Amino acid sequence: MMQQITILQALHQARRDIGDTDARMLLQSVLAASHAHLAAHPEHELTAEQAQSFRLLTARRAHGEPVAYLMGKREFYSLDFDVTPAVLIPRPETELLVDLALERLPPDHPCKVLDLGTGSGAIALTIAKHRPLADIVAVDSSAGAVAIAKINARQLNASNVRIIETDWFDGVSGERFDLIVSNPPYVADGDPHLTQGDLRFEPRMALTEGAGDDGLDCIRFIITSAPRYLAADGTLLFEHGYDQAEACRHLLGEAGFHSVLSRSDLAGIPRVSGGRFGSFSQETARM
Ligand SMILES: C[S@@+](CC[C@H](N)C(=O)[O-])C[C@H]1O[C@@H](n2cnc3c(N)ncnc32)[C@H](O)[C@@H]1O
Repeated sequence: MMQQITILQALHQARRDIGDTDARMLLQSVLAASHAHLAAHPEHELTAEQAQSFRLLTARRAHGEPVAYLMGKREFYSLDFDVTPAVLIPRPETELLVDLALERLPPDHPCKVLDLGTGSGAIALTIAKHRPLADIVAVDSSAGAVAIAKINARQLNASNVRIIETDWFDGVSGERFDLIVSNPPYVADGDPHLTQGDLRFEPRMALTEGAGDDGLDCIRFIITSAPRYLAADGTLLFEHGYDQAEACRHLLGEAGFHSVLSRSDLAGIPRVSGGRFGSFSQETARM
C-alpha cells in the first residue's frame, strides 16, 4: 500500500528536483487550492490519486516541460488563459504591446482592431476585455491555436472578437482597421535558444514559421501589407526580437510609415516597434 503524504512532505520531495515555486504551482493545480491554502494546511494529506498526479507532473517538469503546459493555464495581463502545446505561452514582455495598444484606443470610441497570429488569443482578448466597444478580428494559420483562442474567448466572455483560421491578411480582405497588432514568429530557424528551456516544447510554427534566416521575414510581410488594411492614419504595432528594433524601424520607414517608434520592456530591451500610415500632421502625431 502507498504511504500517505502531507502537503509539506510532497513539497519537500518535489522542491529538490524542480524548485520551490514550480512545486507549489503544480501542487496548487493538482489540489485546485490557493497558495494560501498550501501555506495554512501543511499537514493536509493528499489522496492517493493526488499524490500520483503530483509525482507525474513533477517528473515531467524535471524533464523540462513548461509549468504552463502542465497546468494548462497561464496568467496574462491579470486574465487567465488556457494554454496547450498548440500555442505559444503568453509572455510578460508581450504586455508592453497591449499597454501601447490600449494607449491608442480611447475607451469611449468604437474602433476596429486586427491581431495577426493570435495564438492563445492573449493580445486580442485582453484588448477586448479592456475596450468593449472595439470590434476585433484575431487570426492564426494554426487550427490548434484558433481552437484554443475560441475557448479562451468563451471563458473570458469576449463577444467582441471574431477569431479566424487564415494565413495573415487572407481572411480580412477588403476590411480596414484603426490598429493592427502582432506578435509574429521572429526567431531565426537555427537560433540556439530553440534548444533551451521552454522553447524546446513550444510550437515551432509560433516561433520560427516563415521568419527566415534573419527572423524578420514575417515582420517584413506584415509591414509591407499592413497599409492596404489600415484605416486613414491607422497604427501598426508589433513585437520583435531583442536585437531587431533598428531593422524594424528601418523597414517601417522604407514602407512609408510615419511617427515610427520602438519601446522597451521593463528590462530595458526594445521589444515593440510600430508606426502610423497615412496623412501626417504634428497635432495628430501622438506616437
Ligand atoms: C509568437 S506566436 C504569438 C502568439 C500570441 N499572439 C502571443 O503573443 O502569445 C506567433 C503566432 O503566429 C501564428 N502564425 C504563424 N504564421 C502565421 C501565418 N502565416 N498566418 C497567421 N498566423 C501565423 C502562429 O501559429 C502563432 O500562433
